Amino acid sequence: MTTALGIDIGGTGIKGALVNVDTGELLSDRVKRPTPTGGEPDAILQTVLGIIADFGPAADGVPVGVCFPAIVRHGRTMSAANVSKKWIGLEAEALFEKGLGRDITFVNDADAAGVAEVRFGAAKGVEGLALLTTLGTGIGTAMIYNGVLVPNSELGHLEMNGKDAEKQASFAAKERHDLSYKRWAGRLQQYYTMLEALLSPDLFIVGGGVSKNFAEFLPLLDLATPIVPATLRNNAGILGAAALAVRVPEGIA
Ligand code: BGC
Repeated sequence: MTTALGIDIGGTGIKGALVNVDTGELLSDRVKRPTPTGGEPDAILQTVLGIIADFGPAADGVPVGVCFPAIVRHGRTMSAANVSKKWIGLEAEALFEKGLGRDITFVNDADAAGVAEVRFGAAKGVEGLALLTTLGTGIGTAMIYNGVLVPNSELGHLEMNGKDAEKQASFAAKERHDLSYKRWAGRLQQYYTMLEALLSPDLFIVGGGVSKNFAEFLPLLDLATPIVPATLRNNAGILGAAALAVRVPEGIA
């Protein structure tokens, strides 16, 4: 059994768990803390340190994967939609490695979720283009072509009605504007229709915490592309980050 620790940093919460990366099973309870207000680098690092400490000796020496809600290029965060702007251009992977005193793997959160869905969930064995969208504080996207991730797709920031799509169609937007599932589905219809027109995907996979309520909104969408809930729901980021922390011989990512 290969064990790794996956940490999923989100705009609202930070969570972690030990994972069996051979099977995608969680080997521990999830430890969850709120994302510090303002989402500043040092505060987030301290929260991650606290989460890792909660696992005690079980986390000693295991590979650590951390996923984060921003473009991540060669360990550097290049955007910051729902966290402090101080992340833009920051050597984030190096910051965590120094703070945690160990090597880590650092990736975009939606990409981590996409990798998890390929390895253990709804994108496993899908031929062609599987497009994962996570509906949470923002909209994250992972493009997976024949099982291979094309990283940092950032399709949550496409322009819709002259504005950022995630500001209108994320789960946070539903909450912020107190939208019913029906009204929110109207916005999702517009969003997924746009993705369809641009990318002709073979499958949409819908993740994020709200995907557990998929029956409330997925049947309201009228799309040519099949659309299914993510199998791993809110654990996908943890699982994908953990999986990526362990070198795979070939194939994905
Ligand atoms: C960020 C993405 C992230 C997504 C989900 C967006 O605002 O730009 O990098 O994947 O939120 O957290």
